[in-house]
Order: sequence, then structure tokens, then C-alpha cells
Amino acid sequence: MITSSSSFCFCSTLILCLIIATLIAPSTSNYLSDICIKSKSPKFCLQVFGLNPHRRPYELTLEAINLTLTNASEITKKIHIFTDQTNDFNLKDIYNYCLDYYQFVIDTLRRAQENFLERDQYFDVNDAGIIAQLNAFRCENEFQRKWGYVYDSTLAKDNESLGIFGSIVVSAVGFLYNSTLVKK
Ligand SMILES: *[C@@H]1O[C@H](CO)[C@@H](O)[C@H](O)[C@H]1NC(C)=O
Ligand SMILES: *[C@@H]1O[C@H](CO)[C@@H](O)[C@H](O)[C@H]1NC(C)=O
Ligand SMILES: *[C@@H]1O[C@H](CO)[C@@H](O)[C@H](O)[C@H]1NC(C)=O
Ligand SMILES: *[C@@H]1O[C@H](CO)[C@@H](O)[C@H](O)[C@H]1NC(C)=O
Repeated sequence: MITSSSSFCFCSTLILCLIIATLIAPSTSNYLSDICIKSKSPKFCLQVFGLNPHRRPYELTLEAINLTLTNASEITKKIHIFTDQTNDFNLKDIYNYCLDYYQFVIDTLRRAQENFLERDQYFDVNDAGIIAQLNAFRCENEFQRKWGYVYDSTLAKDNESLGIFGSIVVSAVGFLYNSTLVKK
């Protein structure tokens, strides 16, 4: 880039770059906290993202999708184990509903991730984050739907964590919608 052009030109370009960098720096380094504050639990959000604050909305959105997918998959494994461990048909029934709900979350997130990575389309990401929250809640609700029985939810913590992960996805992609720095 810098060839034999005059040193004056190089110098003013450098200064211009520095000014732009200074203007951009404060906002880019705050994306992590901005995103977390808009989620259901800022504390949980900061914990799962870890310390490096210098990530842009693009990376943070991808990471939020990945973390949510991992959690949903882990929860699915756990529900399979619970299903095998119980002889209660009502509980088995509840778990089957929950497996469907969680599978739908996983499928939706995968599709959204694919469109995001391969086509730079992030409109499905918002929906996937909402579905994660909704279906975690629906699974939790199944425990209360059995007539004549009261079941303590064995998945309350999972409803909670997936719900928060979903809200982080929605929050992160919200910054992409509004950002002029959409691309990596
Ligand atoms: C998220 O997962 C995708 C696909 O597995 C991978 O390409 C990407 O590097 C991951 N991104 C982050 C930020 O973890
Ligand atoms: C889901 O994520 C949360 C937060 O990282 C974690 O505490 C929990 O153990 C995860 N769930 C499963 C089933 O791994
Ligand atoms: C499920 O978790 C969410 C938080 O993610 C919470 O708002 C909601 O009350 C929980 N639902 C039930 C039925 O416990
Ligand atoms: C993005 O802009 C919309 C409309 O102006 C606003 O409602 C929303 O809160 C903004 N999202 C973020 C993450 O700033």
C-alpha cells in the first residue's frame, strides 16, 4: 500500500487512521458487555463468554449460537438418560415431549448457523434464539400438565440455562441488525 508516495501523504493517512481507530475502539471493546446487559442474565452471559472483550457482534453472535447448540445437545443427552432411568410412564411421556422441543431448537439453530456462515443471512438467528427460549419453557410446562399428578421438574435448571442462552443469541444478533460493522 505504501509505495513511493510522499511522506506527507503517508503521515496524514496514519493520523487519519489513528483518529478513526480511537473513535471505533471504545464501542468495539464494549460489545460483549452491551450484548450481555440486554440478555436475561448479564452475569451468566459474561461467565459463558469468558474474558476476552475484544470481539465484534459477528463473532459474538456465532459464539452465542455455538454455545446454545452445545447446551441444547447436552440437555438432550441428559433427557435420554433420564428417560432410560424412569419406569413412570407419565415422566417418559413428558421427556418425549421435551426431546421433541429440544430437537426442534437444535434443528432451527443449525439451519440459522448455516445461513449465517454460508450466506451471511442472519434473520433466522433471531427466530432461533426466540424458539430456544420458547421451547425450553414449553418443556418445563409439560411437568405441570399431567392431570392428577404433581411433578417436580427435573429440568428446571436446563430450562433456565437454555432460556438465557436463547436471550443471548437474540441480543447478539440485535447488534448485527443495527451495526454498520456487520461483516467479520
Ligand atoms: C462456531 O461453530 C462453527 C461451525 O461449527 C465454526 O465454524 C465457528 O468457528 C465457531 N465460531 C465460534 C466463534 O465459536
Ligand atoms: C448448560 O449450560 C450451563 C451454563 O454453562 C451449564 O451450567 C449446564 O451444566 C449446561 N447443561 C448441561 C446439561 O450440560
Ligand atoms: C424457565 O426459565 C425461564 C428463564 O430462562 C424463566 O423465566 C421461566 O420462569 C422458567 N419457566 C418455568 C416454568 O420454570
Ligand atoms: C436495534 O434497533 C431497534 C430499532 O431502533 C431497537 O428497538 C433495538 O433495541 C436495537 N437493538 C439493539 C441491540 O440496540
